[in-house]
Amino acid sequence: MEKARFDEENGSPDVPSAGSGSVLIKVRAASVNPVEYKMRQCAVLRSANAPFAMVPGFALPGVVAGVSKFKKGDEVYGNIHDFTGGNPKQAGALEDFAVADDHMLALKPSSLSFEEAATLPLALQAFDTVDFQKGQSVFIVGGAGGVGSLAIQLAKNVFEASRIVSSCITGKFEFVKSLGADLVVDYTKQSYEQVDEKFDFVFDTIGESFKSYVVVKEGGKIVDIASFPPHPRALQFIVKPQGSDLERLGKYIDSGKLKPVIDPKSPYAFSDVVKTSKHLKSRRARGKIVISPRAVNLIMAFIISLAFIFIIVAAAAETQPTNPKLNRGGDPQHN
Ligand SMILES: NC(=O)c1ccc[n+]([C@@H]2O[C@H](COP(=O)([O-])OP(=O)(O)OC[C@H]3O[C@@H](n4cnc5c(N)ncnc54)[C@H](OP(=O)(O)O)[C@@H]3O)[C@@H](O)[C@H]2O)c1
Repeated sequence: MEKARFDEENGSPDVPSAGSGSVLIKVRAASVNPVEYKMRQCAVLRSANAPFAMVPGFALPGVVAGVSKFKKGDEVYGNIHDFTGGNPKQAGALEDFAVADDHMLALKPSSLSFEEAATLPLALQAFDTVDFQKGQSVFIVGGAGGVGSLAIQLAKNVFEASRIVSSCITGKFEFVKSLGADLVVDYTKQSYEQVDEKFDFVFDTIGESFKSYVVVKEGGKIVDIASFPPHPRALQFIVKPQGSDLERLGKYIDSGKLKPVIDPKSPYAFSDVVKTSKHLKSRRARGKIVISPRAVNLIMAFIISLAFIFIIVAAAAETQPTNPKLNRGGDPQHN
């Protein structure tokens, strides 16, 4: 992994430089996206030596380290990978420092930690794409993942869907219901044909529009974010990194309508990129998988606390008075 180094005192030529309209960010956390390993696995891209995201990590929160429309020290967040027109080589939040166009960023909601801010995908753009209206129904394919877990909350608390049905494995039913789904379907036991309802909107976060299109109403809409090309009835969707949409998300976060969902196995340390990647590839995430430089510090803090407790206990044992009556385990008054 390429890693920018930084000498806090003198600066360093290894720190990427931010040109006009872009901003240098000290990365404080990051999240990963299955698109990353899909790109690495894509033989065509590899053989063409395409300059795609070789530094992993799509979304980042961090602290502004260079001058831009933000002030130095501002805490910002954003998805720094623009497939829709930007330079994809800039992708890669897993560095000490990253550079992003400042229109891709917004001020991080102050109520969120950096790790929490890393979880927020721009799933609301999918609802905007289909002009989703209050009172419409939605089927969210893959409600337990990074995108699905936010999409359910958006449907329930922001877009005020009349009915939300989602798919996941049985073990995640309670989790997906707690996010706001009215009904959960176990996709390992029930096919889409067996779902006894039709929906105004099918938001397919798994890339199964060739199967999931059967649950859309006549005149309804399907957005498939994970298959290329999707079913002909489905709209292909590529997220557009946009600070203005992050500002909207931030307002929903501040008003309590959305809550970040960090996968319980994370945050991983920056050095645990391989473990992170294995977990991502397992396709079993619960919420968003996050990476944080603080993860190492938290483990260290735990080890130091344990050592401290051990020293105190050992010291207390040594200074205990040696009363033979007490040592027999009885009440000295009655012995
Ligand atoms: N087009 C875009 O702009 C864009 C942007 C972001 C992401 N994406 C793509 O969108 C997809 C989702 O991203 P993500 O971050 O949410 O991924 P993720 O968090 O890694 O997704 C893992 C989740 O998928 C669920 N899952 C796996 N197979 C399933 C199936 N057949 N039916 C229902 N759920 C299933 C798993 O739940 P269970 O354990 O319940 O199976 C798990 O919770 C990825 O393919 C990603 O590449 C596209």
